[in-house]
Amino acid sequence: MNFPDSPELPDSPEFPEFPPGLFFGAATASYQIEGAYDEDGRGPSIWDTFCREPGRVADGATGDVACDHYHRYREDITLLRELGVDSYRFSVAWPRIQPTGSGPVNAAGLGFYDRLVDELLAAGISPAATLYHWDLPQALEDRGGWRARETAERFADYAGVVAARLGDRVDRWITLNEPFCSSFVGYAAGAHAPGAREGRGALAAAHHLLVGHGLAVQALRATGAREVGITLNPDRLLPATDSPADLAAVRRVETLHNDVWFEPLFAGCYPEHEAETWGELLPRGDGSYRLDGDLELIGAPLDFVGINYYRPITVADAPHRDPDPATRTAVDVRAEETWREDVRHTTMGWPVVPHTFTDLLVDLAARYPTLPPLLITENGSAEADTVDADGRVRDVERVDYLRSHLDALAAAVRAGVDVRGYYVWSLLDNFEWARGYGQRFGIVRVDYDTQTRTPKDSYRWYRRLIAYHRART
Ligand code: NOJ
Repeated sequence: MNFPDSPELPDSPEFPEFPPGLFFGAATASYQIEGAYDEDGRGPSIWDTFCREPGRVADGATGDVACDHYHRYREDITLLRELGVDSYRFSVAWPRIQPTGSGPVNAAGLGFYDRLVDELLAAGISPAATLYHWDLPQALEDRGGWRARETAERFADYAGVVAARLGDRVDRWITLNEPFCSSFVGYAAGAHAPGAREGRGALAAAHHLLVGHGLAVQALRATGAREVGITLNPDRLLPATDSPADLAAVRRVETLHNDVWFEPLFAGCYPEHEAETWGELLPRGDGSYRLDGDLELIGAPLDFVGINYYRPITVADAPHRDPDPATRTAVDVRAEETWREDVRHTTMGWPVVPHTFTDLLVDLAARYPTLPPLLITENGSAEADTVDADGRVRDVERVDYLRSHLDALAAAVRAGVDVRGYYVWSLLDNFEWARGYGQRFGIVRVDYDTQTRTPKDSYRWYRRLIAYHRART
């Protein structure tokens, strides 16, 4: 493997300063890197299905092979060890553990994560496992998916199975990754699997994801799990203009992107505004949306909350196309990727505005006094990397992105926000969902023809930052 030179400890002004004890890591997710989609008894997930539907994913890409991490995990752990990270955040593919989402456990699937965790520990890296990073077993989707409360119950069973096997070695559990995407992007906007466009289905999914989280927390605690939390992706939103309509649109989006998660998890209620929408989540009498006891379950204390942050969003009002308030709220808002100021945009089209990261964290901490400590579970950028003639990837834009966002994080810490760790997204270039393989988020380049891994300059920079932080603290 082609490793970069050993790091010299750089001058301190180059790096943001963090308090001792704050740890650094790198993150990935099962469907985005593993491949081996039909090996060792893995069942199909909603992403296997979605990728096979024409027009859903750029270039018709699938995660069938991805980074072939299922076979190359040892090489990838070597990359992590050389990087010097304290922790690695990976996700467990539910369809490897229970191919149809319930019932008998697939020993070969569980065995893969068992080996992964052992190898991480042997490399001195703390394992952090996400239980749901969007690869729902297709068999459960066929029974309603997250629209159905049963999925929440099956999720808790699965969480218990994984924790019983790995709980003696996994330090940190994340129940769900970005439930906003699993519900509203998957069931309302239709841009992610399962590709539905249903307002009510999306609202039911949002609630059932939270119930699934609550039940999984119980299952994890029952096995003596060490740290338990959830990863959310709150957004920093700006109105396109100062018109009342755009300001109201910001409020609507804020409800779905942020409040519908933070309020039940950390304030014991669903948002009071947009009552016409959330009315669906009040008891209806037929049982499907009943809240009795659910808010207590959802609001059980957590050891941390994971925050994924990439970019701010500009919001403009859009004409209401759908008379159903649920669909209207979920879909009928125009979110723009442009920013009012003249800033650089990544290849995702996302504006790079680092101070919005500080602002978001400071506001969250002020608004929710009961918020547990924060972990940044993802942050990074997709860039148009090129391989130079000497084989090096000089990804100066990504280094600049990481440096400026870590500066912004350090500013939030100085302002009093309790942040315990930071995971870069991502260790490897990988399958970027509906955008396919064209978007490269890795600090390690993956050549998909040969599966060669090449650490980029951002990998070297991050390694130096970690070494600098260790040497100081
Ligand atoms: C958040 C998701 O958790 C991750 O899977 C995705 O690749 C990144 N955002 C970048 O879009």
